[in-house]
Amino acid sequence: MRCFLAVLALTLGLGCTRGQPKKDAPSLRMAVVTDLKGYLEPCGCTSDPLGGIDRLAAQIRALRDGPAPVIFLIAGDAFFDTAELEPVRVDQANRNARTLAGILTGLELTAVLPGRSDRAQPPEALAALEEASGFRWLAMESDADVFQTDAGSLRLAVVGVRPGAGRDAVAAAVRRVQKETDLTIALVDGSRRDANRIGAVDGVDFVLQGGLDEDEPIPPHQAGKAWVLHASRQGQGLTVVDIFRKKKDEPFMDRSEWSRSERAGQLDRRIEDLSAKIAVWEKSGDVDAADLDTQRARLAELQTKRQALDVPSAQAGGNSLFASWIPLPKKAPRDRDVEKLMLEHDRVVNAANKVAFADLAPAPLGHGDIAYVGSAACGACHQAAYAWWRNHAHGVAYLTLQQRSKEYNLDCVGCHVTGYDQPGGSTVTHNLNGALVNVGCESCHGPGAAHGKDPEKVGIVRDTPASTCLQCHNTQHSDLFDFDAYRKTLVVPGHGLAPMVRGGD
Ligand code: HEC
Ligand code: HEC
Ligand code: HEC
Ligand code: HEC
Repeated sequence: MRCFLAVLALTLGLGCTRGQPKKDAPSLRMAVVTDLKGYLEPCGCTSDPLGGIDRLAAQIRALRDGPAPVIFLIAGDAFFDTAELEPVRVDQANRNARTLAGILTGLELTAVLPGRSDRAQPPEALAALEEASGFRWLAMESDADVFQTDAGSLRLAVVGVRPGAGRDAVAAAVRRVQKETDLTIALVDGSRRDANRIGAVDGVDFVLQGGLDEDEPIPPHQAGKAWVLHASRQGQGLTVVDIFRKKKDEPFMDRSEWSRSERAGQLDRRIEDLSAKIAVWEKSGDVDAADLDTQRARLAELQTKRQALDVPSAQAGGNSLFASWIPLPKKAPRDRDVEKLMLEHDRVVNAANKVAFADLAPAPLGHGDIAYVGSAACGACHQAAYAWWRNHAHGVAYLTLQQRSKEYNLDCVGCHVTGYDQPGGSTVTHNLNGALVNVGCESCHGPGAAHGKDPEKVGIVRDTPASTCLQCHNTQHSDLFDFDAYRKTLVVPGHGLAPMVRGGD
């Protein structure tokens, strides 16, 4: 495995360019990812998918070509997004974790603080993954551990804090190396309170906050003398922190535009609220004049604070940081070599699942269950509806997966086929010889063998309730879903609209 990883690092062409600190360049650039959760890429279902380890790789490479030394760290679940994998998913999830660890090794990740889902995996699986990784795993044996590394002219201490670890263990770890370090970075997997608690430990300069599992990245905030940093989840983006360290043992000033605009936005909202209230009080005339003056003074104070934010701060003589969050949208550059590894991974998973689940048949029909027949069978009588459906997104949903080598992927197939996991329906490998691929008529109208056999006597669900759509159109996969608006686009001539009812439909 180590050989494989060495080859990987070579094929990525890394390990040659190393920026040396220049005048006016940051002393250090820190690339932070939090709660990656095993995501190699976003599913691609939503309107503006963010993420992709190939896009992350392109950013890390660009940073390494820059003027400052780079340290790359991950806090919180890195490889798994759930503590207890369903048995059928174990192989796919482990394969995924191995691919990810290989790619991160190639990107010269410095260290990871595994999160709680990572740590809940069977010890042998975890040990094998760690063994195959070319980066450090933090706080695996103890509550808090620390290692030192050089970056440019700085000696860094990187502290791993195990979920739930006490403050004392962390303080002791920091103290052990404090004398000979210039900067101390602690990685945490826990709540905001946990991060603040660790930030308050004497000697800690930065806390990387894993464990929040939140989409929205949070700008730097202070805890004790430390700055807490966060970077969204699932690899949707990375937080890059330019650190200018001029003096030892001095606190850092946050000069980030990110924080400034966040504070400006908050103040703008408070000013707007208070101005509106004051206007109402002035008009009503029944608010005490003294009280009104107090409120006006409060408003003026807020406005002064707000204006101060518009004045560019004097050039920093002391220690400072500039943090920014870099989202990874579809159009972000991709690292071609990593992209190739991902494609290869998808092909391998597809092929492996096809074999592993070859015998996974759907549950047999129970008493009262109706069999699925597939859309083509409905089309024999409902030609117009069938013609419409074939050109609709639902009619090509399986092709969407096939084009990405994901049609046997357990994370994908369920919503892109018909009758998944239903009695007489489909599984990852069984789909009535292709009749149940795509989101067919029966996804919405229910299984239709009985109706198809004797349509005069046996009916079928006519109108689909929103709850059926939501089984697939959930917020994670269909962010813009609005039942009425989406439904309207389905009810068209040939499918559900009155004029076509007579023409045999
Ligand atoms: C053998 C021909 C035939 C087949 C096969 C068939 N249908 Fe029908 N379907 C009909 C006829 C005829 C009606 C009108 C029945 C009525 O008005 O009583 C109908 C009505 C419907 C309706 C309207 C129900 C209502 O209450 O107004 C839906 C929805 C429907 N079919 C869906 C399907 C689906 C989905 C399939 C495939 C699983 C299917 N049909 C297969 C002939 C067929
Ligand atoms: C079995 C899962 C499933 C169910 C149930 C389902 N959909 Fe979908 N739907 C999908 C998938 C998957 C796609 C995207 C297919 C593709 O493009 O590959 C989609 C796409 C759509 C689109 C096209 C969106 C676009 O941007 O073009 C509309 C509209 C839609 N669905 C509406 C509905 C409505 C309304 C319902 C319920 C009446 C429903 N769907 C039920 C899975 C489902
Ligand atoms: C929970 C159900 C669900 C799962 C699981 C799911 N999808 Fe989807 N997918 C959808 C729905 C619903 C849409 C349509 C969303 C919309 O238009 O609002 C969609 C749309 C898409 C689209 C956009 C199609 C287009 O042409 O615009 C792609 C690509 C896609 N899915 C790929 C995947 C992949 C790859 C996976 C697995 C990693 C996956 N999906 C897993 C439900 C799902
Ligand atoms: C994404 C969900 C969805 C899919 C897929 C879908 N339908 Fe429908 N269908 C609907 C909805 C919603 C209506 C409107 C019901 C109403 O107006 O009461 C409808 C209406 C109908 C009607 C009633 C027409 C009428 O006015 O009497 C028929 C027949 C029908 N669908 C057949 C089909 C067939 C056949 C397919 C597959 C080729 C199919 N549908 C695929 C959701 C779906």
